[in-house]
Amino acid sequence: MLDITAIREVGLPAEVTIYEVGPRDGLQNESATVPVEVKAEFIGRLAAAGLTTIEATSFVHPKWVPQLADAAELVEALERVPGIRYPVLVPNERGLDRALEAGITDVAVFASATEAFAQRNLNRTVAESLAMFMPVVSRAREAGLGVRGYLSMCFGDPWEGTVPIEQVVSVGRALLEMGCTELSLGDTIGVATPGRVVAVLDGFAAAGTSVGNLAVHFHDTYGQALSNTLTALREGVTVVDASTGGLGGCPYAESATGNLATEDLVWMLNGLDISTGVDLQSLVDTSIWMAGKLGKPSPSRVVQALSGS
Ligand code: HMG
Ligand code: MG
Repeated sequence: MLDITAIREVGLPAEVTIYEVGPRDGLQNESATVPVEVKAEFIGRLAAAGLTTIEATSFVHPKWVPQLADAAELVEALERVPGIRYPVLVPNERGLDRALEAGITDVAVFASATEAFAQRNLNRTVAESLAMFMPVVSRAREAGLGVRGYLSMCFGDPWEGTVPIEQVVSVGRALLEMGCTELSLGDTIGVATPGRVVAVLDGFAAAGTSVGNLAVHFHDTYGQALSNTLTALREGVTVVDASTGGLGGCPYAESATGNLATEDLVWMLNGLDISTGVDLQSLVDTSIWMAGKLGKPSPSRVVQALSGS
């Protein structure tokens, strides 16, 4: 790998936490059925590469996301490394019960800033979905679990177009107020551009939300995920979601493609002298291995550039 001296940009953090979503956001959208042992090995390799938060799977309705129907089996098969968090998605109390039975310590609920996507993804209005999450979040907090709140369609929606920033802020704050300790702002279909990222983050700041409670979750449909991430870092965000190999998408938003590839993010952060604790070549090797299992190459430019190096 080429060794070019890193230069930190003034104002950027010394450290960024990568919240890896490949095994969940990545694999929920794959048409190929991935055997549970392959998923467990994928997660093991990600941990060995230095990732410390690895979203493992979802305890959603198995008919809604058949790719992750093996959630309990997967958690059982995982060799959990002390100090690493393995969060899972839970939409409702049934999901939380299943996660608790599996011995999970971190969960995430997932709301939508728009009515169209709330209906398609959760079969509920926005208000009904918040009511569904309320007992999940309070029970999870009482049980001592970490609870993240996702908010989808923060920067644009395939059915509703522009999403008013007040609407995004209002649903996001409702998630924080019910007890989520972190709010991940989702660009589910990858349409965000930097000016809108600043505007949404400013909207939260103006409403009194600390940037320390925010994470960003960019899909890379239009190739904007890295520039949006850099913009968010300049605004003070230090938790960034990414998916190894750039896998990802949402089965209930057809225009969603892969997430920001973790390798693309790590290349940029390494160049900026921002530490992540992640070994880039190990991630690339993992993506090449996973691409072999999925039968298609990784869309990540960094994986392509470093293949065979
Ligand atoms: P529903 O059909 O309205 O469910 O779906 P219900 O509450 O009416 O229950 C119907 C039956 O399902 C009941 O069984 C429940 O027990 C069962 P019955 O009594 O009829 O025998 N059930 C469950 N079984 C197992 N596990 C569960 C569960 N829940 C209910 N958790 C529901 C409502 C929320 C369940 C459904 O809409 C669902 O599972 N949606 C999940 C969709 C999803 O996973 N989407 C992808 C993740 S979100 C995403 O990718 C975006 C993100 O990456 C951020 C971004 O990019 O923006 C996070
Ligand atoms: Mg996503």
